[in-house]
Amino acid sequence: MLEVKDVKVGVIGAGVMGSGIAQVTATAGYPSVCYDLDPGAVARAREHVTTGRYGFDRGVERGKLTREHADAALELLELTTEFDAATSADVIIEAVPERLDLKIKVFRDLDRAAPPNTILASNTSGFSIAAIGAATDRPDHVIGWHWASPAPVMRFAEIVRTRDTSEEAIDRVTELATACGKNPVVVRDHDTAWGFVANRIYAAVMDEAKRVVDDGVATPEQVDQLMIDCYGWPTGPHTMIQGALSGWT
Ligand SMILES: NC(=O)c1ccc[n+]([C@@H]2O[C@H](COP(=O)([O-])OP(=O)(O)OC[C@H]3O[C@@H](n4cnc5c(N)ncnc54)[C@H](O)[C@@H]3O)[C@@H](O)[C@H]2O)c1
Repeated sequence: MLEVKDVKVGVIGAGVMGSGIAQVTATAGYPSVCYDLDPGAVARAREHVTTGRYGFDRGVERGKLTREHADAALELLELTTEFDAATSADVIIEAVPERLDLKIKVFRDLDRAAPPNTILASNTSGFSIAAIGAATDRPDHVIGWHWASPAPVMRFAEIVRTRDTSEEAIDRVTELATACGKNPVVVRDHDTAWGFVANRIYAAVMDEAKRVVDDGVATPEQVDQLMIDCYGWPTGPHTMIQGALSGWT
């Protein structure tokens, strides 16, 4: 039986990442509200979490969880176009498109609407968490929580702290990530150093992969095959981008 937790999770944005994140938190027993301003995105998210490739039904078919667990998790998951429904949460995870102006606006709105002790986490792929935190009156409660796609499958949890992020916020988010079956690693973000390790290293790999192709040494397909065969990567650097954008569907 699914044990229902007394920590409520809000997710802002119900796209590829947000819908998967809310599915994960609900599956771990956290009442979860996922908000998107686009009703079409909410409808697609509902499909994604129920009948999608990494949704509840496939999880049951593959023996990852029981039908009872999936149904109970679905009960805990609210997908909505009502912003206020997602703001009365203990932890809110932002997953709107990767635009700094948009993220700053969302964080300003969340800061005004959410209770003072609510932690505001961003799933940005690389913007400065310090810059996002500075847009709020609670930079000590602002943190990066970088997920990998597909969220229900990948254990990756890169937790990005700034100079202002409190120990309490770090503890609460790492505890939540662990309870969701993820493997949190806490890294730093400050004025002179960009705090997203996985994407910094991936960007360096992509730069070199592009150089190899531009130099006429190998095709993108050959680069990908060589990296898979040599390092046991599940996919090559070029395919990685297409997969991430589509949610690997
Ligand atoms: N796709 C990936 O593999 C991946 C991995 C890690 C991190 N990220 C990051 O996660 C974030 C979301 O990426 P995605 O791939 O899910 O994007 P997406 O385009 O699939 O989803 C974004 C959703 O946000 C909604 N939205 C836009 N403005 C909004 C607002 N003001 N309030 C609420 N919802 C709003 C859109 O309607 C859309 O449904 C980005 O910052 C991205 O860089 C993506």
